[in-house]
Amino acid sequence: MIIFQNNVFHASTKNTSYIIRVRDGQYIEQLYYGKKIRHTSDYEALYEKNGTGYGNSIVTPTDSRLTLDNICLEYSFSGTGDYRHIPLTLQMPDSCFSNQFVYDSYRIYQGTYEENDKTNMPFAKKSQDKEQEDVETLDIVLKDTVYPVYLHLIYTFFYECDVIVRLVKIENHCEDSIRIEKVMSMMLDLPEQEYYLHTFDGLWIRERHKNRKKLVSGIYVNDSTTGSSSNRHNPFIMLTKANCTQDTGDCFGFNLIYSGNHYEAVEVSEYGKIRIMSGLNPHQFAWTLDGNDVFYTPQAVLTYSDKGQNGLSHNMHVFVNQHIIPSNWQGKERPIVINNWEATYFDFTGDKLLEIAEEAKSLGIEMFVLDDGWFSNRNDDTSSLGDWTVNEKKIGGTLDGFVKKINNLGIKFGLWFEPEMICEISELYRQHPDWAVKVPGREAYLGRNQLVLDLTRQEVCEYIVDAVTSILKSAPVEYVKWDMNRHITDAYSAGLLKRQGEFYHRYILGLYQIMKEITEEFPDVLFESCSSGGNRFDLGMLFYMPQIWTSDNTDANQRIDIQEGTSFGYPLSAMAAHVSAVPNHQTLRNISIETRFHVACFGVLGYEIDITKLTEMEKIAVAQQISFYKQYRRLFQFGTFSRLKSEQNLVVWQVTSGDQKEAVILVYQRLAVSNPPGDIIKAVNLLPDEIYTVKSRKQYIIKGKEEVAGMSEEEEYQVFGDMLMHAGIKLVQQFSGTELLEQTRLMGDFGTRVYEIKKK
Ligand code: GLA
Repeated sequence: MIIFQNNVFHASTKNTSYIIRVRDGQYIEQLYYGKKIRHTSDYEALYEKNGTGYGNSIVTPTDSRLTLDNICLEYSFSGTGDYRHIPLTLQMPDSCFSNQFVYDSYRIYQGTYEENDKTNMPFAKKSQDKEQEDVETLDIVLKDTVYPVYLHLIYTFFYECDVIVRLVKIENHCEDSIRIEKVMSMMLDLPEQEYYLHTFDGLWIRERHKNRKKLVSGIYVNDSTTGSSSNRHNPFIMLTKANCTQDTGDCFGFNLIYSGNHYEAVEVSEYGKIRIMSGLNPHQFAWTLDGNDVFYTPQAVLTYSDKGQNGLSHNMHVFVNQHIIPSNWQGKERPIVINNWEATYFDFTGDKLLEIAEEAKSLGIEMFVLDDGWFSNRNDDTSSLGDWTVNEKKIGGTLDGFVKKINNLGIKFGLWFEPEMICEISELYRQHPDWAVKVPGREAYLGRNQLVLDLTRQEVCEYIVDAVTSILKSAPVEYVKWDMNRHITDAYSAGLLKRQGEFYHRYILGLYQIMKEITEEFPDVLFESCSSGGNRFDLGMLFYMPQIWTSDNTDANQRIDIQEGTSFGYPLSAMAAHVSAVPNHQTLRNISIETRFHVACFGVLGYEIDITKLTEMEKIAVAQQISFYKQYRRLFQFGTFSRLKSEQNLVVWQVTSGDQKEAVILVYQRLAVSNPPGDIIKAVNLLPDEIYTVKSRKQYIIKGKEEVAGMSEEEEYQVFGDMLMHAGIKLVQQFSGTELLEQTRLMGDFGTRVYEIKKK
């Protein structure tokens, strides 16, 4: 609900309030963002009060005591005496960088932003779920005091999940063009400075590890310049107060619905305030906005919870599941796949693939995914990207014929593509060398022996749409893995002439157009985004493709950190997670097949292993895993996820059903401790007055020195929800260097237990 009274806008969601005012008829002052407070007719207590002014600070032309440098604002402009980080660098028609945008008017309406479709970018949309329908938009218009240039601050409030989406629109009504060098989607000033900043950082096979830093004076930047949202710094960040734990305390979260170069900055000002902004990265960005044209920024996402980091993650998870992913995939269970990449890499024949598919089917797997190497002459990664013609010799016939053989086994079929790329050794490159991104006269930098296609050009986008579409029409493909395996360098397009500063953003606009056309034409195909694993794990991709290959790292001990880091901003339904072979291909580590499964089942489960080579015991274990996953699939993909413990040696997670009648807990121990202390598991989010049965999942373990596989100990309890949540269960003793009895809990290194919790 948004109320406008006495120049104050008070917007509230279910648990939060966002209060701003029009100050002196000109400036938009941020008064409060946080836990919900009541509406009143008098907000004076929240106004910034100016008394004597501040020493050598600059004051506004109309008020000799008002210095914009020490006011919480909603957006700020250069040349106004606000010397903090400014969200806008705009060269006006007179070539001057100063601009004064002051309040002009506002509109409030039901529903999401009316111009969402015109932005040519992904956006937060209405949910299919009626309960999530309460959505309202506020559009505040600011006008420059000299030129007919307007700046809209647009806010959409998603009531049920406590999320606010913001964007900025610039309208140039001048005859002349203006030049945008920086435009953030949102800026938020908060009146206190005591915060910790959490970022999610990494590299290939080491994505989204959480880093926390205490903020002191200065500016902190979290960004990407690789052309994609990147595995280096995810666009999702959090700010927490010192009191914030997983389940209690103040926590703010920010994200961007965008897949390219992003920028988030947090500044602690010398007046003890904090300024947060996020948007397109100004790195090599310059956009010429012609007369009578408009520019939309991507949408920024803001959320707050007083229920700690889990509370914040729940807001984000509901938001992504309800308002970001394609409507027809909302709440829809995803199939268990077998992917041949780590099983065969490029070295396969049609018969080998059918063998894998047949075995997979017998164990309960639902879809076979054919990864890289099925087209043109692609037998290693040195050639052929761009030539999307089926290698019929390799797969033993037409694609349609091959898919029919797979389907006849009673299993669905999915296919890998990397449509945004081109290899120099390819027919496409021979015909269109200029379609590759490189600077004329300079030698191009290569990544994985490939170049990026120039998606700023319409004819290139059309080629990609045609190539992918014709393959998808030629056979009953029910899933597509959309890969993108290199960063952008040599940013240049022959089509952009003197506007090369628009390259990075136009690349992403081209990508969005391609994905829109293809996903709309094949609404029933499940698209999974991938970029060397999780190099493009962002809300922009999730808008078109409801799940993402979380990381090329399938080692359970690394995955536990990667999936946990990802879970702060993204739901389990977005995270594809596969069981692979040991020694693991990324770390050469040996981890039991049960632990590999227990980590992978917290997400969209798959297998990426030559399943025909498993031992009989492993096959039985896998069949049982799959039937367990099917039983709890809805929980693992759409349940409420909570991080119960995130210690160096112990990670504990829980997923709970919406009605709180069912839950599953994972206990992960990194290394065995000699003569270890006792373990207690405490659940969250259950019904205190109900009785639950808590049961350990039976799993295969290697028992004792002889390496003989046996079954794990069995534990079962009947407990009230309040006991389970507040007192917990003392688990049976772990192996402590003496006897190994039937009921000894043998966890070992990288050991796991899973507990099923069901209301009686
Ligand atoms: C990337 C992906 C992998 C696999 C290979 C194929 O690395 O992340 O999952 O598809 O490409 O070349």
